[in-house]
Amino acid sequence: MASPLVLALGGSLLRPEESERHAWLSSLADLLSACNAPIGIVVGGGAPAREAIELAKPVLDDVAALDEIGIAATRLNAAIVAQILQGANLDVCRGIPSDVASAARGLEAHQVVVMGGTRPGHTTDNVAIRLAIEAKATRCLIATNVSHVYSADPRLDSDAHPIESMTLSELQEIVGPPVHGKAGGSGVIDPIGVQAAIDNNLPLAVLDGRDLGRIADALAGKPFTGTRIEVG
Ligand code: UTP
Repeated sequence: MASPLVLALGGSLLRPEESERHAWLSSLADLLSACNAPIGIVVGGGAPAREAIELAKPVLDDVAALDEIGIAATRLNAAIVAQILQGANLDVCRGIPSDVASAARGLEAHQVVVMGGTRPGHTTDNVAIRLAIEAKATRCLIATNVSHVYSADPRLDSDAHPIESMTLSELQEIVGPPVHGKAGGSGVIDPIGVQAAIDNNLPLAVLDGRDLGRIADALAGKPFTGTRIEVG
């Protein structure tokens, strides 16, 4: 059987206020049905995670507790994606695995495994990277709502430019050392996941998941619009 593929879907991709969400979700199902390798999908928390963490923050001054709230939101989003894919007749592993070892086992028996977060101290980027390592995927794809990794945060720096190809060490220079900042905080990729990719020689990719054509190209191993991040 072909090696498994692992795709992180940033929670922002599921935002109900985005137009065309229904079309996006059903096209995602079509795209995954056409894949002939097992696929692990790790879904982020997006708006529900941010909203729930903001709600609890004034009375809960404990990062791990806030992380648990974020994890619950990622699992809610994962359940939405899993049910939609199941409804589209894909062979989806039942239940949302709560650790990457169970998810990797699920990929041995099913076409699709959908999961969210696992434990406090990181984000779903790191979960996807850990799943890719555990399942021996050749690359972990991180689909988010920006087109590329940028040389700096484009919201803060007008000279920031998109990067098409880079190494893991260059990525680490941008995201910083492997520390968990704060619950619900968000950079382009979780630095803890970047360190795990470095330690395990796992190539990554960052691409704009709003355009499913880019996900389809990357899953098929074709050239895609986005940032390829190679070992080195
Ligand atoms: P996300 O993975 O959505 O993180 O998890 P994010 O970086 O805030 O959002 P994106 O990448 O921009 O979509 C939401 C929050 O849930 C907690 C963290 O607090 C994270 O910020 N979380 C998630 C964990 O503590 N552990 C996990 O395994 C996953």
